[in-house]
Amino acid sequence: MSTRTPLAYSPKILELFKNPKNLGRMNDASVVSQAGSPACGDVITIYLKIDGDKIIDSSFESYGCAANIAAASILTEMIKGKTLKEAWDLTWEDVANELGGLPPIKYHCSILAVGGLKRAIRKYFEEIKREKPEWLPKDLSKEERQALEEEELIERMYKKYGVVP
Ligand code: FES
Repeated sequence: MSTRTPLAYSPKILELFKNPKNLGRMNDASVVSQAGSPACGDVITIYLKIDGDKIIDSSFESYGCAANIAAASILTEMIKGKTLKEAWDLTWEDVANELGGLPPIKYHCSILAVGGLKRAIRKYFEEIKREKPEWLPKDLSKEERQALEEEELIERMYKKYGVVP
């Protein structure tokens, strides 16, 4: 019998893990972004469909854990109908709270989901609209920075041990 203690997941996390909403590729997305590294397996892809300044639809694909799937699922629900600025202002803590809390070891799962969202919004303005609203900061948000640090760490580890992802 296993001696491992199960993580204290909220009922909401377990429900969304079993029945995630908005799961799957969106073929007509306005913008797509990724966060995480395929090398370690934790990767999230965020799809946004945008009309004017509003997110009218959103979906995700995840190769992360139960907490990541639940965080991405609830995030895609939270941002539907929001303006890009309102979606940008969401934090990983907002998502964790909406899930009924996350075990500390799983904070990064929510950070990855929100990092993917913020990358998508930044990419939409920089690469597709080619404009910069005054509310979009030049510096990376904490979620984008954390996602980038994780990706760089994994790349360094793979290089060090002789395997390139
Ligand atoms: Fe890495 Fe959840 S996505 S532990």
